Amino acid sequence: MFYIGIDLGTSAVKLLLMKSDGTIENIVSKEYPIAYPHPGWSEQNPEDWWEAVKAGIKELIEKVDKNEVAGISFGGQMHGLVVLDENDRVIRPAILWNDGRTGKETDYLNTEIGKDKLSAYCANIAFAGFTAPKILWMRNNEPDNFKRIKKIMLPKDYIAYMLTGVHCTDVSDASGMLLFDVKNKCWSKEMCEICGISEDQLAKIFESYEKIGEVKSGLAKELGLKEHVIVAAGAGDNAAAAVGTGTVGDGMCNVSIGTSGTIFISSKDFGVDKYNALHAFAHADGHYHLMGCMLSAASCKTWFYEHILETTDYKGMEGAITDEMLGNNKVFFLPYLMGERSPHNNPDARGLFVGMSLDTTKIDMVQAVIEGVTFGIRDSFEVAKSLGIKIDRTKVVGGGSKGLLPKKILANILGIRVDVPENEQGPSMGAAMLAAVANGEYASVEEAASKIVKITDTIEPDPAITARYEEAYRKFKKIYPTVKELYQDLK
Ligand code: XUL
Repeated sequence: MFYIGIDLGTSAVKLLLMKSDGTIENIVSKEYPIAYPHPGWSEQNPEDWWEAVKAGIKELIEKVDKNEVAGISFGGQMHGLVVLDENDRVIRPAILWNDGRTGKETDYLNTEIGKDKLSAYCANIAFAGFTAPKILWMRNNEPDNFKRIKKIMLPKDYIAYMLTGVHCTDVSDASGMLLFDVKNKCWSKEMCEICGISEDQLAKIFESYEKIGEVKSGLAKELGLKEHVIVAAGAGDNAAAAVGTGTVGDGMCNVSIGTSGTIFISSKDFGVDKYNALHAFAHADGHYHLMGCMLSAASCKTWFYEHILETTDYKGMEGAITDEMLGNNKVFFLPYLMGERSPHNNPDARGLFVGMSLDTTKIDMVQAVIEGVTFGIRDSFEVAKSLGIKIDRTKVVGGGSKGLLPKKILANILGIRVDVPENEQGPSMGAAMLAAVANGEYASVEEAASKIVKITDTIEPDPAITARYEEAYRKFKKIYPTVKELYQDLK
């Protein structure tokens, strides 16, 4: 049998065709545009996602026996607000996870409703990118659109809806809405009231590995699929990536350096970060996780290489950085190009280079960009450590971790081992695995992960480099508090 994993990302949808035993048969990627209508805002058109998914599925299965395709599932960019009217038409472009327009609504939730109450209702406080502040923003700024809302959904759930007609979501993605009682895995009545919505505007909740329905029959024909292809709920992209790297069960860690940068720690038990810096979410394996999320990670590299240096020679740039240079860079970079979520929760923060002199080279700045993103991951890692969580190794995935250098920097800045999975297809692989579990190929997500995921390399931290980075991190940590006040003025 074959399973399709659809990773609905921010820059593109990546589709992966997996055999029952985990072998990857084919991978297809389709890009779509992203709009930044104001500084700090980001939007996409759900219909663009859908067109890309349909074209992607057709191309993905072109060369295989279509009768063998048994299931589909998803990993999706989280938190985005998709709203449909009573005729199932998209009311406005989706407001994405890295959109910072909801500063006022986020403040209202955290200060007037109060962090304690939010945390009691949902296990999390408000962050600008979460879905509930976006709903409040619509209520405050687009009242006519707000009144027309019939269905509220997350990005990947729009695709599931288009495929099956079922308005559903899964526990991991629902966790990032700030409408979901993570501990009890149900919608929070209090949060619905605060946002002025009713529960029937929200989706039916499933575990990530549960079947939600089948591909609609007319559509199956159009896509070249047989009848009765099952669709599983899927997961937020980070939970899906965690499944794809075997970060399931207790005490495992995965770092994802995609458009966003995340550190993801799986746990069998529900737990909340008492500092509310890390998100406490449900996991796609039926349990829970903690997660820190940076809004700009690989996107910092793309921005600096392609827009500023006007090069796509990633290998050449990074090849010039030697071991002796690691931990010795005088240049530092704050990677907050779209504001920052974890741990600063500041939509007004922005990027910054500091420490340059007349002998600074572009390679120093390239190195500072990679290091700045990794120091940002370390910030969330430090929060996890302060909660008593012991992490001595992590997996890594995502475009920003391609090549040896970013992995070496990660191992040495965190001071832990970095395990490299056989393939770097985190979310789409995890999504295909969830579809296989939903179809009964594996008894559980943990079983699928233990049979499918293979680690092919481990990068060990080097004590001398780690010591240098310890000192560099001490300096990095001072920069944000020093410039924080300035960000208000730069708005
Ligand atoms: C996680 C988050 C991002 C997006 C990126 O909280 O906002 O990782 O899911 O797609």
